[in-house]
Amino acid sequence: MEMITLNDGNKIPAVGFGVFLVPNDGPAYEAVSQALKAGYRHIDTAAAYFNESDVGKAVKVSGIPREEIFITSKLWLQDYGYEAARKGLETSLEKLGLDYVDLYLLHQPYGDVAGAWKALEEAKKEGRIKSIGVSNMTPTIWKEFVPQFDTMPAVNQVECNPFFQQRELRALLDEADVKIEAYQPLGHGDGALLSHPVIVKLAEKYGKNPGQIILRSEIQEGLIVLPKSTNPERIAGNIDIFDFELEDSEMEEIRALDTGKGHHDPEAPGVAEMLLANYK
Ligand code: A2P
Repeated sequence: MEMITLNDGNKIPAVGFGVFLVPNDGPAYEAVSQALKAGYRHIDTAAAYFNESDVGKAVKVSGIPREEIFITSKLWLQDYGYEAARKGLETSLEKLGLDYVDLYLLHQPYGDVAGAWKALEEAKKEGRIKSIGVSNMTPTIWKEFVPQFDTMPAVNQVECNPFFQQRELRALLDEADVKIEAYQPLGHGDGALLSHPVIVKLAEKYGKNPGQIILRSEIQEGLIVLPKSTNPERIAGNIDIFDFELEDSEMEEIRALDTGKGHHDPEAPGVAEMLLANYK
């Protein structure tokens, strides 16, 4: 598995397994167990996914040494502000059954972001978190918050796929060597992307499925990708993307698919209120 070095020196596997919307008490445990068997060593969960305990259980039962698995979780909005963030992290660790997480993110860029970030910086010094980062920050939001931070985030996890390539954000983050983690790297299963003629043509050429072509192109762009699947074959396939390489001209064809628009707009009016109301 290809590893990417973060701006704090820590290394992260380039492909992680995402478990957004996979229910706790069984399905998330099954999916993460499958992923670990298939060779994933990077799992991406969040307090707001409500499946940290299944993730922790799957890691424990796998018998794989803790230091060989990169585990990310995220602090939810209700736990922002310094004191609440300290407690929120402890709750995540307790549910995961871990002494530390490899990466902990501020899940959403609203509320007392600066206070929550201070708590993460401290927890990093204490060894409870190895790397700290943010999520869902657009260029405008990034410019508003990050100058207030003492520690540069290691990553910004955002929606990113060939239809929404985040070019402006990537140029901004490159200046500070901040990596993008692409969530919904397959366009959230968007049929229009997975069946796009450019993608299908390349899938036929390389003997891969369309999802593998998309993920491979993202890896060649230097992105960390977090594909999600509950299907054992696709779980295994989505990590089997290191035995071929897309040519420059093929990468150009995929770059031309950018529409500049995603499903989720963190700056849309009412988003923060909606998120606060829905995750109690
Ligand atoms: P499934 O769970 O049946 O595999 P994203 O990660 O962009 O949110 O996309 C996740 C969606 O894409 C899920 O609906 C998942 O369905 C589907 N999916 C995952 N891997 C692939 C693949 N290699 N090819 C096609 N669809 C995929």
